[in-house]
Amino acid sequence: MYEGKNIILGITGGIAAYKSADLVSRLKKRGADVFCVMTDAAQEFITPLTLRTISNNPVFIKMFTEKCLTNVEHIGLADRADLFIIAPATANIIGKINCGIADDLLTTTIMATKAPVLFALAMNVNMYLNPIVQENIENLKRKGYYFVEPEEGILACGYEGKGRLANPEVILDRAEELLIKVKPLNGRKVLVTAGPTCEPLDPVRYITNHSTGKMGFAIARQALLLGADVTLVSGPTNQGTSKGIKLIRIQTALQMRDAVIEEFAECDIVVKAAAVADYRPKYTANDKIKKQPGDLSIELERNPDILFELGKKKVNQVLVGFAAETKDVLKYAAEKVKAKNLDYIVANDITQPGAGFGGETNIVTLIFADGKTKALPQMSKEETAREIIIEAIKLLHFKE
Ligand code: PMT
Repeated sequence: MYEGKNIILGITGGIAAYKSADLVSRLKKRGADVFCVMTDAAQEFITPLTLRTISNNPVFIKMFTEKCLTNVEHIGLADRADLFIIAPATANIIGKINCGIADDLLTTTIMATKAPVLFALAMNVNMYLNPIVQENIENLKRKGYYFVEPEEGILACGYEGKGRLANPEVILDRAEELLIKVKPLNGRKVLVTAGPTCEPLDPVRYITNHSTGKMGFAIARQALLLGADVTLVSGPTNQGTSKGIKLIRIQTALQMRDAVIEEFAECDIVVKAAAVADYRPKYTANDKIKKQPGDLSIELERNPDILFELGKKKVNQVLVGFAAETKDVLKYAAEKVKAKNLDYIVANDITQPGAGFGGETNIVTLIFADGKTKALPQMSKEETAREIIIEAIKLLHFKE
């Protein structure tokens, strides 16, 4: 996939910068044309001459030097790129891009490009685990940037832990995925639901649940990465979507139902990851309910079972449900596959550490309509989402 592709290799100031020479060499062997952009700090670890010699192209350092490609260098580079690989990517570059800082050639070029940007992280383990760095990474993922996580090992600074630049072949394979133009879901429409619903009790209070939307937003992102036209219907969350995803925000189960039914007929794949309230208050007060002496009882009435309705409407769509259970997870989930006419269900035991609401990881078992199961180990919600979408793609081809 690298043949004839223009790769911009951004190099920032980490000890792993010396490994960029090897990356350039490997990229060229795979047929890419490589243009290196170095920060000032990167030059402390490797010289521009080394990279110029290996890449056989100019090396770009400063914003305001003689023009090589176009009159405005960073725009020329940004437009020329088929893909950006930032390796090593330090905590500093992650923080600057997440905050929209564009104060040197590399940051301005990254901010100006429409090409995919892949950050190959490398830093001290304590920097990597710093909540500020982790939040910057998660924010950038939600905005459509891609990452290769650092590997475990002995670090140059003497520490041991997750901080070493990933193996170059891992970086190049991940980058190659981003270059794939003909993607398995090109021309396909995927609908994902995410987050909680909020069922109003009065103008001040509502009934909801612990869903943060992370699982559903990750599924939407993975579907987008695999080429789909993605619509995401989400309850209230603080998750941000990637560019290119059509986001429909709702509050109640009734509103989610209307939005989903509206989209369903045109969809190829539907994944219902949202935690939809089964009940809502039978009466919603127009004014704040004032406390009275003694107890207060609230009468609840059933919400529509959206997934069940979709199962009845299903024609060629691949319909995927979720099951959030606290006991007999596989039994309840298997019952739902049949009762709701699903192609498969994602069963997760939300009492398991590392699974369920709010965390960065999930532990799920996929249960298919033919009874087959696929147990996934604990993995990030991004990786879980990728598995979910890949299984749906297999079923889509099977249906045709
Ligand atoms: O959002 P996160 O913080 O990342 O947490 C992820 C998650 C725990 C929310 C997610 O992994 C998950 O389990 N989502 C499903 C939660 C849920 O509502 O499960 P359920 O067993 O109550 O519902 C079963 C299925 O029916 C779900 O696909 C649900 O979307 C759907 N449903 C439920 C009720 C309803 N009235 N209509 C529905 O369509």
